[in-house]
Amino acid sequence: MLAVVLKDAMTVRVEEVEDPRIEKPTDAIIRITSSGICGSDLHMYEGRTLMPVDPVLGHENMGIVQEVGSAVVSVRKGDRVVLPFNIGCGTCFNCTRRGTHSCLMANPHGPHAAYGYAAMGPYKGGQAEYLRVPWADFNCLKLPGQPGDDLEDDFLLLSDVFPTAYHATELARVQPGSTVAVFGAGPVGLLAAYCSLIRGAAEVYVVDSVPERLAKVREMGAVPVDFTRGDPVEQIRQLRRSNPFITGAMRPGEEQMMGVMCGIDAVGYQARDIRYADTHGGPERAAQVLEQLIELINPTGHLGSVGVYIAPDPGARDESTRQGLYTLPFAKAWDKGLTISGGQTPVKRYNVFLRDLIIARRARPGFIVSHHLPLSAAPDAYRKFDARKEGYTKVILLPQTSPMARA
Ligand SMILES: NC(=O)c1ccc[n+]([C@@H]2O[C@H](COP(=O)([O-])OP(=O)(O)OC[C@H]3O[C@@H](n4cnc5c(N)ncnc54)[C@H](O)[C@@H]3O)[C@@H](O)[C@H]2O)c1
Ligand SMILES: [Zn+2]
Ligand SMILES: [Zn+2]
Repeated sequence: MLAVVLKDAMTVRVEEVEDPRIEKPTDAIIRITSSGICGSDLHMYEGRTLMPVDPVLGHENMGIVQEVGSAVVSVRKGDRVVLPFNIGCGTCFNCTRRGTHSCLMANPHGPHAAYGYAAMGPYKGGQAEYLRVPWADFNCLKLPGQPGDDLEDDFLLLSDVFPTAYHATELARVQPGSTVAVFGAGPVGLLAAYCSLIRGAAEVYVVDSVPERLAKVREMGAVPVDFTRGDPVEQIRQLRRSNPFITGAMRPGEEQMMGVMCGIDAVGYQARDIRYADTHGGPERAAQVLEQLIELINPTGHLGSVGVYIAPDPGARDESTRQGLYTLPFAKAWDKGLTISGGQTPVKRYNVFLRDLIIARRARPGFIVSHHLPLSAAPDAYRKFDARKEGYTKVILLPQTSPMARA
């Protein structure tokens, strides 16, 4: 079959690789209809991780069940399914406690597994014509409808970024009436703002610098904040301070609460240093966003970090960052009594009810998708998405419609 293979830093190719096959009775083989390129793929693409064991990329996968192993009981040939990016066994200590992002059985080298990802086990990704899914009963989420229907993009996003965005709002404890600041307007940040609105937040600010992304923030009814125009913390405080409807409801002492109660980091260790960044680039400063959220979030508030932090980071500029050691204003966070949490998303905790919101047409996360491309376009798409230029916000590869795909 054809698949997107990571050859080296900044180089992917579409190549012929071995077809996947049923290896265990609990496996299924999926014919991929859509596979997303994710901000997380760029960590590998840019050489910021160790090389994956089997470098077929793609952890955001959906398609049609082609074949099932003899022990699979809940899905069968022809079913339409979407797969969580994390692979869970369903029976270990963590999987039975909803912690499928930390499965203890799927990866011999650590408590987490995913398709097509460095340090996440020996699994091929789904930017390919077919994919092997282990523990198929546990990992397949069944979907209604037909491939290519109007919900294809919405359903595909159930594999990662929609649940990840929702997870961020859980960690940041977004509730009706909450004030929320999201740093990063990539797919994860945009959908974290969208989930905040679904959960009834009163005010949602989203910080980034890429014009097309900030335009999407405004379209959904949140407030864009461009960090190239000044310190985003001060911009958000000023927006709140200058709104008479906010200040008009304040009691004595509340002038100390001009930040927000819920802060979301949807950027991670590749945060750009806002002192030097321009619209699309600039030097990195790993602790930039965490530092600003600790400053911005009001006393007793909550910080949820779903942006990735990596160690070892072979591409880091200095030794401590290479080991994932950053300086943070922890005393300030402690003094404010902030809760801070983060990590990989346990997709299975959320994907069923988020699917049902999509089926009811009460959530349409697919609005973030900017490009649908054949598999053959992957090398160019990686290049452009990596540069965050030409409106490349979210790319979905369609292996079955590719001119290079076989019938
Ligand atoms: N926790 C999980 O399970 C999980 C799942 C999916 C993705 N992620 C991670 O979430 C992060 C975001 O993913 P994405 O696909 O949206 O990526 P992305 O790279 O498309 O988006 C990141 C955005 O952050 C912006 N940014 C950079 N520096 C900034 C700063 N200082 N302040 C504000 N914004 C800044 C960039 O301009 C970019 O638009 C990545 O680290 C990704 O790996 C985590
Ligand atoms: Zn992803
Ligand atoms: Zn498990």
